Amino acid sequence: MGWAKLVWHPSCISKHALYLWLAILGALRTLDKLSHLGILPSACCMFNCGGNESVDHLFFAFPYTQHIWIEVLSKCNIYRQILCWPEEVQWMADHARGNKPP
Ligand SMILES: *[C@@H]1O[C@H](CO)[C@@H](O)[C@H](O)[C@H]1NC(C)=O
Ligand SMILES: [Zn+2]
Repeated sequence: MGWAKLVWHPSCISKHALYLWLAILGALRTLDKLSHLGILPSACCMFNCGGNESVDHLFFAFPYTQHIWIEVLSKCNIYRQILCWPEEVQWMADHARGNKPP
């Protein structure tokens, strides 16, 4: 549970914390899950990029959102390759100091 301090910290915004928590638990209702449950016929990403929508795709693998994440990291003077979602969470947990996000 090294990630708990990333989600719940004194300056967190509750709505953001909730979504981050759901994403870490793999509980966000992305199209891949809805299609797996038979609720939707396809998990095809709505941006027509050819991929399936998952947390990893939506926030990290899709070029537009990947660009946003690269920008956020560069504002923190961090220059590195984007990892997959579980590795990003681990990386953040390893690099967070005290009870504040980096
Ligand atoms: C998307 O999901 C479908 C059904 O699970 C699968 O058959 C297809 O190969 C996937 N496409 C990609 C690009 O991963
Ligand atoms: Zn896509």
